[in-house]
Amino acid sequence: MKLYLDTGMVEEIQTVAQSRILDGVTTNPSLIAKTGRDFIETLREIHSILKEYSPKDFTLSAEVIDTSSVDSIIKEGRAYAKISKHILVKVPLTKVGLEAVTLLSREGIRCNVTLCFSANQALLAAKSGAWCVSPFLGRVDDEGYDGVELIREIKKMYDHYGFETKILAASVRSPHHVHECAQLGCDIATIPKSVFDKLYYNPLTDMGLEKFQSDWNSYTKDLGGKK
Ligand code: G3P
Repeated sequence: MKLYLDTGMVEEIQTVAQSRILDGVTTNPSLIAKTGRDFIETLREIHSILKEYSPKDFTLSAEVIDTSSVDSIIKEGRAYAKISKHILVKVPLTKVGLEAVTLLSREGIRCNVTLCFSANQALLAAKSGAWCVSPFLGRVDDEGYDGVELIREIKKMYDHYGFETKILAASVRSPHHVHECAQLGCDIATIPKSVFDKLYYNPLTDMGLEKFQSDWNSYTKDLGGKK
């Protein structure tokens, strides 16, 4: 499963990307607004970090802002795509949005269809030729439904019909979400940094390390400081 970081914060991306296991970044208008920075300038900075540290097939999702018409989405999508071949144009899952996705995809521009909350919506995204679809796990959970179950349904349907559209789990809120997505064979999970950091952690690892260290210290002490 590919791991993306879900953020607009360049500093966070720099820190995580240095691990060299980061496959991409997703942004959205809310995340970029939080940074208070210029959108395109921020995109370019993120792109150069990923280019330095990530695998050659990294992607960077940039969401269209004016979603009022097919033309406005296509115009913005083309402009983002010109920045780099690594850009995924993020388009909301609406009727207008999917029409634009169909046309952009025919031009070879890869789209990430976002704000997906049902298997039926995911079916339409795949039919539109989306490169990936982003079901929002956490927000489905927030409404009292089961976000992981949604991923399971989409995965089953895509496998059944052999759709090439990838499943990008978004609105990931916990290591449990990441675990479940990986068990289901989800293609990509986009994760906030707070959750990404937790993936490294297990108390048994810390306890094991402490024990190795103390055993080694006693051993070298017994040797009178000689190793
Ligand atoms: O990738 C979509 C994500 O940013 C939404 O997450 O936590 O706001 O539901 P959240």
